Amino acid sequence: MSGLLAGKRLLVTGVITDASIAFSVAKLAQENGAQVVLTGYGRLSLVERIAKRLPEPAPVIEVDVTNTEHLAGLADRVREHVDGLDGVVHSIGFAPQSCLGGGFLDAPWEDVATALHVSTFSYKSLAMAALPLMLPGGAVVGLTFDATKAWPVYDWMGVAKAGLESASRYLAMHLGKQGIRSNLVAAGPLRTIAAKSIPGFDQFEDAWAERAPLGWSLTDQEPAARACLALLSDWFPATTGEIVHVDGGYHAIGS
Ligand SMILES: NC(=O)c1ccc[n+]([C@@H]2O[C@H](COP(=O)([O-])OP(=O)(O)OC[C@H]3O[C@@H](n4cnc5c(N)ncnc54)[C@H](O)[C@@H]3O)[C@@H](O)[C@H]2O)c1
Repeated sequence: MSGLLAGKRLLVTGVITDASIAFSVAKLAQENGAQVVLTGYGRLSLVERIAKRLPEPAPVIEVDVTNTEHLAGLADRVREHVDGLDGVVHSIGFAPQSCLGGGFLDAPWEDVATALHVSTFSYKSLAMAALPLMLPGGAVVGLTFDATKAWPVYDWMGVAKAGLESASRYLAMHLGKQGIRSNLVAAGPLRTIAAKSIPGFDQFEDAWAERAPLGWSLTDQEPAARACLALLSDWFPATTGEIVHVDGGYHAIGS
């Protein structure tokens, strides 16, 4: 077997359509020698259908990251397909509509709590659920949207991402002793289901393509996926708690 991830066994969450960032990660990972197990949430038959579009049809395990039973059973369910894990990809985000699109000042705590549970706390929960399968050299990788700034319409999702970025650093600290890395990819805007559910998300789109020094494609998930692969590989052995921007360079440019 050859490729950047030759022989690696990965758990990839977050596939819901073939536009999902996670789908590109799973596809590229398989093309680069990895064995992939997917998790699906909600519409499982849809995820199973999408999984068949991968170069190698991948098994799908049901995981709602807010469901403690799903998390407790995760390692056993994964073991039905692979005997261990070298990497885990967290590609999950959700916030109720009240939390997005300018609703920052009015969103009720119950909705904000849901956003934080699914988008922030789950990074730690998922990693811990998979930990019994992992050995030194393993990697956890998640997806963020640069949370150092307040963005129009992103509202509580931005706060959830700031928490995710911090949670990744804490995970790096706590799992470092076991030789496990935690890193994030900060992707620019991509037209996925999650992005389309944010009212006014199109505001980012033109500005990004115009301002990013390298330009930016809203429909090309591969650059973000490639960075995930690199962080999952053995080529970042001493990097943890890091955030790699895959945004055409937008974050580096003042307005
Ligand atoms: N699309 C963008 O512009 C963009 C930019 C930067 C970061 N991201 C991040 O990338 C990640 C993947 O999103 P995407 O853009 O590919 O969209 P997507 O809609 O394809 O993926 C989001 C996934 O989250 C899953 N999910 C939601 N609630 C869940 C739960 N309770 N349990 C388990 N899974 C759950 C959905 O099933 C879906 O597969 C998210 O963290 C998102 O915030 C997206």
